[in-house]
This record gives sequence, C-alpha cells and structure tokens, in this order.
Amino acid sequence: MCGIVGYVGARAAQPLLMEGLRRLEYRGYDSAGIAVAEGGRLSVAKRKGKVRELDAALPAAGFSGAVGIAHTRWATHGEPSDANAHPHLDATGRIGVVHNGIIENAAALKQRLAAEGVTFASETDTEVLAHLIARRPEPSLVEAVRAVLAEVKGAYGLAVIDAARPGALVAARNGGPVVVGVGEGEGFIASDAAALMGHARSIAHLDDGELAEVRADGFTVFTLEGTQTVKALSELSGDALALEKGDYAHFMRKEIDEQPAAVRRTLLGRFDRRFATAHLGGIEMAAREMLDIRRVKILGCGSACHAGMVGAHLIEQLARIPAHAEPASEFRYRNPVIEPDTLYVAVSQSGETFDTLAAIQEVKRKGGRVLGIVNAVGSTIARECGRGVYLHAGAEVAVVSTKTFTSTCTAFALLALQLGRVRDLSAAAGARLVAGLDALPDQIAGIIAREAELAALSARLAGAEHAYFLGRAASFPIAVEGALKLKEVSYLHAEAYAASELKHGPLALISPDTPTVMLLPDDDLLAKNLSTVAEVRTRGGPVLAVTQPGVSLEGVEAAFAVPACEPELAPLLLNIPLQLIAYQVAQGLGRDIDQPRNLAKSVTVE
Ligand code: F6R
Repeated sequence: MCGIVGYVGARAAQPLLMEGLRRLEYRGYDSAGIAVAEGGRLSVAKRKGKVRELDAALPAAGFSGAVGIAHTRWATHGEPSDANAHPHLDATGRIGVVHNGIIENAAALKQRLAAEGVTFASETDTEVLAHLIARRPEPSLVEAVRAVLAEVKGAYGLAVIDAARPGALVAARNGGPVVVGVGEGEGFIASDAAALMGHARSIAHLDDGELAEVRADGFTVFTLEGTQTVKALSELSGDALALEKGDYAHFMRKEIDEQPAAVRRTLLGRFDRRFATAHLGGIEMAAREMLDIRRVKILGCGSACHAGMVGAHLIEQLARIPAHAEPASEFRYRNPVIEPDTLYVAVSQSGETFDTLAAIQEVKRKGGRVLGIVNAVGSTIARECGRGVYLHAGAEVAVVSTKTFTSTCTAFALLALQLGRVRDLSAAAGARLVAGLDALPDQIAGIIAREAELAALSARLAGAEHAYFLGRAASFPIAVEGALKLKEVSYLHAEAYAASELKHGPLALISPDTPTVMLLPDDDLLAKNLSTVAEVRTRGGPVLAVTQPGVSLEGVEAAFAVPACEPELAPLLLNIPLQLIAYQVAQGLGRDIDQPRNLAKSVTVE
C-alpha cells in the first residue's frame, strides 16, 4: 500500500516520478505528491485524489530538478487531504519524506517535538520523520536517517530527500517493500519494481532493517546498526507495455482476457508426461518428503485464500491428503499449532501482503515448512518462503485479482497432481488430468469470447440490492470469490453460502428481490444442487445459473454454460463468467472498476 518512487540522475525528475506514480497507483489513490530538489530548496506539489489531480496541479513549466521523490497514498493516519498527502517536510522545507507503513510511536515523538517548539502541518505519523531528520547533526543524509530510525517503532518503506545535499536519496525498509534500482548514471527507489521498468537496468530488494544511500553512480546499503552490506543485483526484465491498458477501457477487462495466456505460462514446462504427472521443480521436494506430508494448510488473504480453498479441494481429491485453507490474517492471531508433518502453502499475487508474510514467519519460527505460490518474482513472500511455485501470470494492475486467481488455481492443480501421483492417483487418472489442464486455456478463451451471452445475468444483478452466490463442495470457493468480485467492483451486497447451508438460515432472506447465482456443474452433486434451486424457486427467489451443457434448467431465469471438462477442474471454468458478470455490472453502474473505493492492491500494512 502506498506507492513510492525516487530518482537521482541527470534527467528532469518530474516526468519519471509521475510515470512511476501512475504505474503504482494501484497501491493507493486517495492523494499523491511530489518533491523535487532545485536551487537548494524543495519544489513540492500535493493533491487529494488521484495522480491525474496531481498532474493538473503541477506548474505549467514543470519542475526542472534532477532529484526527487513522489508518493501515492492509501490513508492510514489522517484523512485524505492536500495537507496529509506525502511528501512531508520539516519546518524549513529542506527535508522531504515519503512513507508507506505506520510509525507506532509517532504520538510520543510528536509530543517531544511539539515541546521543542515544532508545529505540524499535517495529521500524519510520517511528518515526525522529516522534523527529526532535519534536526540531526550527522554530516550525511544516510547517517541522519539511520540515527532517527533507531528511535522509530513501526513498519516503513521510506524515501528521503535533502535539498541541501541533493547528491543522494535515502531509502529504508522495515516491513514495507523497497527496491533500489540502477540505470545509466541514474539511481532509483520504488516500492515496486514496476515503477522502474524501462528505466532501471537492475534492481536490488532491501531487506527489513536496511537502508540505502542511492546516488546517480550507484548505491550503498547499510544495516540499521551501520554495517555495510552487499546486495545481489537482479536484472529488471519485463515489458513496460504490459503495464499499459492499450485499447482496453479497464485493466480488469484486459487481465480477464489475458487468462488463457497466463494459464499457459503457469503450465509451461511443468508436466512430466511420461509419468502422467506434474513436475514443480521450485518446490524442491523429493518424493519421500511428499509421502511424509500428513496435512496441507493453505494461507492467503482475500482472493488468494479463495484460490487456496480451491487448492485444498484439489489436494484432498487427488492426493487424499487432508487440506484446508484459511485467511492468513486470522491464522497468526490464534497462536496456531504447527505440526512437523504439515505442509504450509502461502499464496500471494503481490508477494508483499503483510498478513500473509507474518503468518509465514510464524510458521517458520515454530519450525514449520512453507512453500510459496506467488506471482511477483523476487517479492518478499517469495524470498521468505525460499521455495515454491511462481505463477508467471504477468503483472496484474487492476486492484481486483482475476488472472492471478485462475493461475493460482492452476498451480494448485499441478501441485495436487504431483502429490497425488506419488501417492494413490493412478497413471490413467493422471493422464486424464494432464489432458484436462492442457485444454484449459482454450476453454477459458472460449468462455470469454461469449461474454455477450452474460448480459441477461448481469442486468438482473445490476437491478438488485442484494444477491446470493451458492455453490456446493468444490464450487463453494467459486461462489465466495464470485461474491467478492461483485462486491469489490460494483459495491452491491453479495453473499456467498455453501448451497447445503441454505436451509439452515439464509433461506429466510430469499425473496423475489434477491437473485441467487447458483453454480451448477454437471457432477455427482447435481441432483442436490437442483434441489437447492427448487428450494429457492419455491420462495419466489430468481435463480441465475452458471452451469455446464446438458444440465436441466427448469425454473432458472437465465443461465450460462461453461464447457464440459474434467470434473476436478470445473471450478476454474465456472469462475470466469463470474468475473465477467462483476465487470459488466460495475460498468453498467459506472463504477471506478480498476480502483474501487477504499481498496488498494498489495496490502502491506497490518
Ligand atoms: C481481491 C483481491 C484481494 C487480494 C488480497 C491478497 O480481488 O485482490 O482480496 O487477493 O489482498 O493479495 P495478494 O495475493 O497480493 O497477497
């Protein structure tokens, strides 16, 4: 959360910083700001609202300085306003700070500064840092920042500028992601490498407790204790064009369309066809270790957890290992029992979600073993897990997760297949699943091409205030994910229930005004699901079905059928129409689809 960019070099900093902010806007978009050092002082612009509002507030001629920092905010302390937007400055306007995270002892530090006569221009916790750094006597900015951080408690990713010493910026990390980048005679700081694509040649990820002095000719990294550390540089590859919307109205729609290619990349090179199994090299697990697994526990937040629920079903069905997914955000607060024969799997698109990271650290601290299923290469969670599966789904820019949900489910299918084939899953069943997975990308593309057929379902939902999403067994996680998607982008109230739970309470709310989206795969639970449809219809509730060919649709108001497939893989197909429905409803209601209210991608705060 919160986007940070910093630049020091020979080019004008403003255009580079603004481009970086636009790429990082998914991390927060309630206010934005920029500070550029020129003529011994900081030129600053800050605005409540999106980066385009900041753009409009910049002087026509622009700032000309070649060193600067910028920020796009997701508010924690202090409402979104011009004054609370970052950068925050000291009283003389010499030091500028942008910050992602929370300074826990800000109140005490503020009190102390106030007693020394400092007045504050904002309600933020961040501003104390600017005042404290400005008051330090150390000759270099990096030393001054280090001295201040020694008395700061909390989580941060930081970039600091000093107009009086513009030769270097300082970056620091404790819980908030920070990368430093190197270009041709240029240095960069960012909270996400995406901001630097096309500019920095190589990057290094700071670890917690490190700070960096970033100069045009390179960077030096220190620990908070002052010891110099050596960081490995990795090449910054990736297509900057992938971060653009192109002809699409929204990133969400673009990323829905990218799913066939994303799934193909998740599958690429990961089959061992001779043995009708999957081969996930990154999990670094020999067959013997797989055999010893007695339980699988999957941890993730939001859509990552829902994909984990799909994964738990797959692992239980294919490998016959008890598996369960739960929100990482809850897990770590209940002093969890960590068992040596349990395999923990952490799921994260961004690889930076604080709650998931903290859950992994708790498992590791107690001696548990963790695999990561992660999209962002080199991210904190990927590095913390050390082994796992990269999705290779490509950058996901829309705040809501679509293609990475599908790729995560695909990765779980591979993991379940591999675990299953070292246990009791037959070669024939393995071959059936390999063929089923091979077919997925084209089947997904076929569903997306029929988007127009979903109009009736979307129109029915758009006219309702509340909706139910029901699914049984392996379809239940898809109902939960479908309801979340609709909530996030359309702001309609949608609730998911296990279909079998309907008569245990929620049936009370079924009425002609409450449509139910019913997942009706053609599997051995179909008769049960059709009974649920009848229960809803008897109470006058309209039913919209997402189903498969050949299913009887008596009493159903509107339906969409995904192709027939291997039954275990049906959840992956049933989810696609629900993404498109959420998109269509949100579009019809004129919502801000890529940046829904109150949300941000990559939740790096607790
Ligand atoms: C929902 C959504 C969120 C994320 C969650 C975890 O559309 O995007 O629920 O899935 O915040 O994020 P990652 O996967 O980055 O850990």
